[in-house]
Amino acid sequence: MGKDVIIALDLDSGSKALAFLDQFTDQKPYVKIGMELFYAEGPAIVRQIKARGHRIFLDLKLHDIPNTVQRAMAVLSGLDVDMVNLHAAGTKAMMEAALAGLTRPDGSRPLLIAVTQLTSTSQQRMEEELLIQKPLDEVVMHYARCAAAAGLDGVVCSPLEAGRVHEGCGGSFLTVTPGVRFADGDAGDQVRVTTPARAKQLGSDYIVVGRPIVAAPDPVAAYRRCLAEFVG
Ligand code: C5P
Repeated sequence: MGKDVIIALDLDSGSKALAFLDQFTDQKPYVKIGMELFYAEGPAIVRQIKARGHRIFLDLKLHDIPNTVQRAMAVLSGLDVDMVNLHAAGTKAMMEAALAGLTRPDGSRPLLIAVTQLTSTSQQRMEEELLIQKPLDEVVMHYARCAAAAGLDGVVCSPLEAGRVHEGCGGSFLTVTPGVRFADGDAGDQVRVTTPARAKQLGSDYIVVGRPIVAAPDPVAAYRRCLAEFVG
């Protein structure tokens, strides 16, 4: 599986998203459509961006009873996206149901990635509110192993965890990693940040990059810089 840069289209309207993509005249970047854009525009924006030739990671983080997730995944699979995700906390039964729902009659399906613990969850909150009394990194690795056992393709994690995830779940188990910043860039609200070059050294398979590209004065140049550092 080749390494790639995924641009997070964190925008609140389809017109902004399409105008942003219009700037890329000679490349079709892999893009991530999250809740903001999907809830603003619905499946139509997914179809439009797909029709322009982009690969799409649909980041809707499903988490419900297995039957509901299976049926929702069948609908998302029909949108012909390339990658979707869910919360590993929904249990192995939910993840297996999700895979069944995603698989098309011809056996093909989008990649399915799990969120382990959100990076916004601290050790203290996890203990006090979720009643999980284990070190956070152990919880993340356990959820990753559950996702692998359920047959998923990978997890969303920090580039700093990519090596451990590959050790625990196999080299071909994908690590999709946000929290990427240029060495001379602004971290914003991300705390543990890594440059594209460092993410490559650490073994990330895909980096997800939002503001360093979307809010750059020249997004195409910023995207090219990410590609040059990460893919080489
Ligand atoms: O703008 P920035 O590069 O921080 O965007 C990162 C993207 O990755 C955002 O869409 C954010 O929601 C997403 N993400 C994240 N951390 C996670 C999971 C997803 O930053 N643990």
